Amino acid sequence: MASVTFDRATRIYPGAKKPSVDKLNLDIADGEFLVLVGPSGSGKSTALRMLAGLEDTDEGRILIGERDVTDASPKERDIAMVFQNYALYPHMTVRENMGFALKIAGVAKDEINRRVEEAATTLDLTEYLDRKPKALSGGQRQRVAMGRAIVREPQVFLMDEPLSNLDAKLRVQTRTQIANLQRRMGVTTLYVTHDQTEALTMGDRIAVLNFGVLQQVGTPRELYQAPVNVFVAGFIGSPAMNLATFDVDAAAGAARMGRASIPLDPAVLDGVTAEDGGQIILGFRPEALELVDGEAEHTIPVEVDFVEELGSDSYVYGHLAGGGWRDAGRGDEDSNPGQIVVRTPPMSGVREGDVIHARIKDGGLHAFSRATGRRL
Ligand SMILES: Nc1ncnc2c1ncn2[C@@H]1O[C@H](COP(=O)(O)OP(=O)(O)OP(=O)(O)O)[C@@H](O)[C@H]1O
Ligand SMILES: [Mg+2]
Repeated sequence: MASVTFDRATRIYPGAKKPSVDKLNLDIADGEFLVLVGPSGSGKSTALRMLAGLEDTDEGRILIGERDVTDASPKERDIAMVFQNYALYPHMTVRENMGFALKIAGVAKDEINRRVEEAATTLDLTEYLDRKPKALSGGQRQRVAMGRAIVREPQVFLMDEPLSNLDAKLRVQTRTQIANLQRRMGVTTLYVTHDQTEALTMGDRIAVLNFGVLQQVGTPRELYQAPVNVFVAGFIGSPAMNLATFDVDAAAGAARMGRASIPLDPAVLDGVTAEDGGQIILGFRPEALELVDGEAEHTIPVEVDFVEELGSDSYVYGHLAGGGWRDAGRGDEDSNPGQIVVRTPPMSGVREGDVIHARIKDGGLHAFSRATGRRL
């Protein structure tokens, strides 16, 4: 087993103007499960392929353990990859599929059988060893693909969206299995996904990429509680954090947008500079809001568009009553400009068309610079 280090690692595809991975600095500890997350095109697969040696590193270095592998061939790196589109050999049994790479590598038959059977036990595949892939469920096939990687006993596992072919329920089951398996085996793992829920539930730490640039790396809790910028704030958490641009009323120690007003800490006010043009970006998660009785200072009036009852709690979707919303979200396909989401206890009696008043709970406010997007 080994640690992994990206040291200012950069990949510029031939003909591209901008790097797809830009001076990536990332240390993955021996045995750690690190999840690389980010929107489509942010450079996740490229970073993974650089580590695997399938993609050149144009600048910087990549280390596995103490060894500089920047110019090493994929074979010399002792890495096993599981891709989204893992193709199993249809004419081979599960046993043959799992042992194939070892057979090619000239490993003795007894040793292949030992490793395959051990992996099959780990993955709960023992009773399927003599079946062909077509007689397996999607989840079982996915585990065979994992098994092929495991039997190689690599120093590092790389997984690129290995669950995206599975339906939602199976994905939830399998992600738990992969996380448990990784913990048991203790093999350093870099796992790519664009699903932030997967990231939050699986990883020891999460690294967030956007446009090839590392935004933040930390534990799920750190990213959720203290996102370093507006991008991470909007990306991590589901439903997403509400984010909007407010006017700063320094004299009143508050921020305003339409009829909404939010008190600001002196420390936050101090962080606002001339570049911010008298504005500030504020974020509050749906679960950081609570309903209060009437309109009052320091509340947000929300006109309700619809209510989603989930049994355990409900989500109220609405917009700023009286208008005046100013967006500050990440502006990608998932964001819904002007929408405010409030989590409430179930059966709160809130209905479409109501105007409710929400207050941000203590510690629930995130403030960012309008000019830089950085956390204040
Ligand atoms: N072989 C290539 N040649 C040129 N450009 C490429 C190549 N592969 C990827 N890119 C570009 O590099 C950027 C990063 O791509 P990459 O595949 O790493 O993104 P990703 O984060 O894995 O996205 P997704 O979530 O869609 O898989 C994109 O802008 C992409 O168009
Ligand atoms: Mg990809």
